[in-house]
Amino acid sequence: MRTKVAIIGAGPAGLLLGQLLHAYGIDNVIVERQTPDYVLGRIRAGLLEEGTVALLDAAGAGARARHEGLVHHGVELAFGGARHRIDMHAATGKTVMIYGQTEVTRDLMKARADAGLATVYQAADVTPHDFGSVAPRVSYVKDDITHEIACDFIAGCDGFHGVSRSRVPASAIQTFERVYPFGWLGILSETPPVSHELIYTNHERGFALCTMRSMHRSRHYLQCPLDDHVDQWPDDKFWDELKRRLDRKAVDHLVTGPSIEKSIAPLRSFVAEPMRFGRMFLAGDAAHIVPPTGAKGLNLAASDVHYLSQALREFYTEKSAAGIDAYSAMALARVWKAVRFSWWMTSMLHKFPDTGEFGARIQLAELDYLVSSKAAATSLSENYVGLPF
Ligand code: APR
Ligand code: PHB
Repeated sequence: MRTKVAIIGAGPAGLLLGQLLHAYGIDNVIVERQTPDYVLGRIRAGLLEEGTVALLDAAGAGARARHEGLVHHGVELAFGGARHRIDMHAATGKTVMIYGQTEVTRDLMKARADAGLATVYQAADVTPHDFGSVAPRVSYVKDDITHEIACDFIAGCDGFHGVSRSRVPASAIQTFERVYPFGWLGILSETPPVSHELIYTNHERGFALCTMRSMHRSRHYLQCPLDDHVDQWPDDKFWDELKRRLDRKAVDHLVTGPSIEKSIAPLRSFVAEPMRFGRMFLAGDAAHIVPPTGAKGLNLAASDVHYLSQALREFYTEKSAAGIDAYSAMALARVWKAVRFSWWMTSMLHKFPDTGEFGARIQLAELDYLVSSKAAATSLSENYVGLPF
């Protein structure tokens, strides 16, 4: 098989890239190790920046999000028992949209299938080869037969645990990482949201976040010890702990119910530099991970794909390598700003035992400054709604 761009991974990054390249007339194939249902079964965050929604439109997969997504103008910060609204739209003229990543993936899968594009699912031993040459290729095993895709470029969209980054020689890559000393216990329930906007809570017992998937389906998160197991958190215990961390008004509006999904996720910040290795590019979680506090994971994957798809379009239509040569620096400049913002939000809102009472007071001072300074609130808003591409 031959194609222009071989994409490894059919998550949001790979699917979005495939659609944008198709829109630009650039032939591509996606190779994915799991089944479509497995990919759709991963419960992830659900907050989209305007730029991400615009890219979904350009990919022919934005209509349902535009129809069903919840547009939010503000976000609330709760601390010291009180809640404070940050009017992001007033500060930036922009909004964010609540629309689950599962639905984004579903819409991109449908757009790709409707376009009749090649996606190989349940591909084993996917391996990028010769990306330091002008003739890279990707091999994989399907139904016990080894296949090979000859291509011009490889896009490693295979996530944090993927194969692409692992095939880069250690001497050619530098990584930066911070692992946080706690996890997020998340619950999904068919209950109405606590409020029509998100509530991020700093509490002495730990962080809590009240978010949603629709006006009938809620998503709540609690900071929990890293060594906790989800079996230690029956629903009643989860709801009781959430009530102990929320402000009075939120407790009064909280509707509890049986969990339809419950899981614990670790938090880390991770960046790999560079994001280009000859004819192979990394995009999305394959190159970086952010703690979900800033809701940047999916949006960073989208911005990488924006830069990479534009660079490849320039290569094929204008015969210029300027874009692909600039890709890594362009993407990393935005990645590091989002990594900083996600680290800052996480540092401000979570309980860090090792920083003690002094650290807790600094957090409250930061939060108090945020809700009493237009400049500080504007800075948070600019980053939360998404910095320009
Ligand atoms: N071969 C083929 N496919 C692979 C391999 C491999 N060796 N390793 C991983 N994959 C696939 C995974 O099964 C997954 O479907 O690559 C895809 C990567 O998707 P994601 O992990 O979702 O990463 P990305 O597309 O960059 O999207 C980032 O997803 O995990 C969330 O929080 C993250 O919101 C962010 C978004
Ligand atoms: C979510 O809706 O799952 C979500 C929203 C905002 C975050 C994290 C998760 O910061």
